[in-house]
Amino acid sequence: MSFCFLHMRSCLLLVFCYSFLLCEATFDNGTSYVLGEDESGAVQISDPTTGDTVDQSPASDGSGDGMNLPAVLWIVFAFLIGFPLLTMGVRLGRFTSGVGLGLGLAVALWASVINTVSEGDISDIVILAIAVVLFLIGFIVGVMTIEYLVGVLALGAAGGMSLAMRAVLMREDLLVPIYYVNWILCSVFGAVGLFLALLTDRWGVIIGSSSAGSFLVGLGVDLLINKQSGISRGLRFLFDRNKNHLADILGNGYQPPISTIVIMAVTLALIPIFSFAQHKIFPQPFRKARHRPASLLGDDASVRSRTWIDEPPSTQALVTHSEEEATLVTPTGYQDELKEKALVAAGVPKLKHTEH
Ligand SMILES: *[C@@H]1O[C@H](CO)[C@@H](O)[C@H](O)[C@H]1NC(C)=O
Repeated sequence: MSFCFLHMRSCLLLVFCYSFLLCEATFDNGTSYVLGEDESGAVQISDPTTGDTVDQSPASDGSGDGMNLPAVLWIVFAFLIGFPLLTMGVRLGRFTSGVGLGLGLAVALWASVINTVSEGDISDIVILAIAVVLFLIGFIVGVMTIEYLVGVLALGAAGGMSLAMRAVLMREDLLVPIYYVNWILCSVFGAVGLFLALLTDRWGVIIGSSSAGSFLVGLGVDLLINKQSGISRGLRFLFDRNKNHLADILGNGYQPPISTIVIMAVTLALIPIFSFAQHKIFPQPFRKARHRPASLLGDDASVRSRTWIDEPPSTQALVTHSEEEATLVTPTGYQDELKEKALVAAGVPKLKHTEH
């Protein structure tokens, strides 16, 4: 238990440092730049210390325009990842840990690109391509790597954050008028999700995948209905404080359409429903095979979670051998059955489940 408190303490410490960084030298709107008007009445952003005006461009963030290629790709991506995650995240162990790592990397990169790239000389499709490539790298590493825990933790954090983000994006110009408080909320929920995944990987994955999955599905639906003026606009408003985008982001603000608010409320309600459904439909423990989760896509060496009783040495060798073959050639799920048969054939009397 002291291990948990240690983590809790370091999480809180991180959140405090982070909030200090965010609120340092900025107004409540999350920027130190000043919104004004020039002689002709056009919106103008100026540096508070030098008084220089800052060139402005529309907030380019890879979301596309109307239903052009980047916009359609976002929708496809959201559904393609969202549906499996929402409905069977806990069963798709490798996929899930891959998605967790991929999402973590892609979102971090996307946020840093939109915040650092100056006046619109990078196109939507390039930003999207960078995000997708990063996602794929994270995904492949998450699927292939021996250590799945990082992916699972990233998924837990993404699930917690996406939950808080929906609450934050429900109100015009964000839930809390003080910009960085919204981020503290998201961070605290992200830390809770991460912590839950650390405590119990099964529940961390069930809730994390239901939350992140429902968010992505909701994002897909909202992009179909509201294009770039719904959740997409909200995410830009939340993430983007690029000084070259301020005239657009803060000048035009964020007014969520009613349908966006409804979609977010519905997807929030889906989290407990799908968590419970995943828990009931996939009762298998989130087993570790060579420290990997059991997965429809991967192997399942659940033999390691059993202890053999009364085994004669020669029989044990025989059983272990045939099981290794079974692990190689058969899909997950049939293996337990095969093992029982191998055991009966080998005449091993009893086996007992052991907890890790
Ligand atoms: C941010 O808020 C401050 C204080 O209300 C205001 O003076 C400033 O113009 C705002 N900046 C932008 C970019 O909206």
